[in-house]
Amino acid sequence: MCARTQSLRYRWFRWLNAAAYVPFGAGLMLLLLLLLPPTPVDAGCRRLVQKPCEAICVRTGSINRHIVRQEFEVRGNGSTGPYGARDGWTCELRIVVIMPANTSVEASLPRVQPVLEKAEGAIRRDGIIPADVAIRWIPFDDRCEQARATVMAMDGTGSDSCGHLILGPSCDFALAPVARIARYIYNDGIPVITGAGYTFDFEEPKTHCENEFHMLIRTGLVSFKRMAFFMIELIRHFNWNRVVYFYERQSYYNVAGPQTGHLLMNTMAEFFRHENITYSPFSTDSARTNLTESLKEKVGLSHASEYYRHVKPQSATARER
Ligand SMILES: *[C@@H]1O[C@H](CO)[C@@H](O)[C@H](O)[C@H]1NC(C)=O
Ligand SMILES: *[C@@H]1O[C@H](CO)[C@@H](O)[C@H](O)[C@H]1NC(C)=O
Ligand SMILES: *[C@@H]1O[C@H](CO)[C@@H](O)[C@H](O)[C@H]1NC(C)=O
Ligand SMILES: *[C@@H]1O[C@H](CO)[C@@H](O)[C@H](O)[C@H]1NC(C)=O
Repeated sequence: MCARTQSLRYRWFRWLNAAAYVPFGAGLMLLLLLLLPPTPVDAGCRRLVQKPCEAICVRTGSINRHIVRQEFEVRGNGSTGPYGARDGWTCELRIVVIMPANTSVEASLPRVQPVLEKAEGAIRRDGIIPADVAIRWIPFDDRCEQARATVMAMDGTGSDSCGHLILGPSCDFALAPVARIARYIYNDGIPVITGAGYTFDFEEPKTHCENEFHMLIRTGLVSFKRMAFFMIELIRHFNWNRVVYFYERQSYYNVAGPQTGHLLMNTMAEFFRHENITYSPFSTDSARTNLTESLKEKVGLSHASEYYRHVKPQSATARER
């Protein structure tokens, strides 16, 4: 009994000793935190009066009937999930989905909506958000157009829909204006979450209001910058330093909508420049003659080089048989 108290006392003493080593600054910080009242967090890029509908939970008496009725007309089905009502409060998370309806683009409404339904199922099953918070999807077809996407973002965040979050747009050209204005919508800005945004501008830092795409969150793994780095590795490996870049301006419409080929070329050009690689872009739709001729003309003698083949003819033919 006596031994145990002693060891306890000893431990207590050791702890005190260790505590003495805790940097003085930390203690001071704690004191300051206790003395100063917490300052309100100011996340927005411009100060605005908060609209009542911006809140996820509102008193049931004040629920905006107009919103509910309009949505029934849009979706035919009304809101999904249990309609949240808790002790006189109604909670609803409104998610604006801006995507083309044209299935030529991979991330189009008809293809993505079933995935969102699955996602909602998972959210409900795992209880990621409280069960009494309803989720409402508000789809808009932007046809991959800049102007349409911008107006849809305004509509989706106007007092009729009052969305809390924007999913999409999935075309890079339509994404740019939406991601640009998102920081000035509402007092705190509205998050824009997209799997697209392949062009290098979307990968620039976004931590401050001054950053162009401050409210954008890219979830995709692929970007044109990564592809450019792959190309640069390849070019370095072979010790090349001149590139003729043949590209189709409108190719890969399914990936990022209009001018995907052009955007990829832009990104590559940007990083080729950083690496001092001389490049000469050539858009095939500007070709005056057929491609074979264009290739001869562009590559010509200024970009071609000699190379030696070390192939044993016998073994090559033997392998083919
Ligand atoms: C409406 O919802 C039901 C189930 O809740 C579903 O079976 C039906 O396909 C939906 N209709 C439309 C048009 O989305
Ligand atoms: C979808 O987009 C492709 C490519 O731009 C176009 O050829 C096609 O006509 C569009 N389809 C519809 C239904 O608008
Ligand atoms: C490119 O060239 C500039 C000036 O000649 C040089 O300062 C820079 O280090 C070079 N960059 C690379 C990646 O070689
Ligand atoms: C391209 O043009 C050249 C002559 O200008 C011609 O010999 C060649 O057959 C053409 N190729 C094709 C695929 O039309």
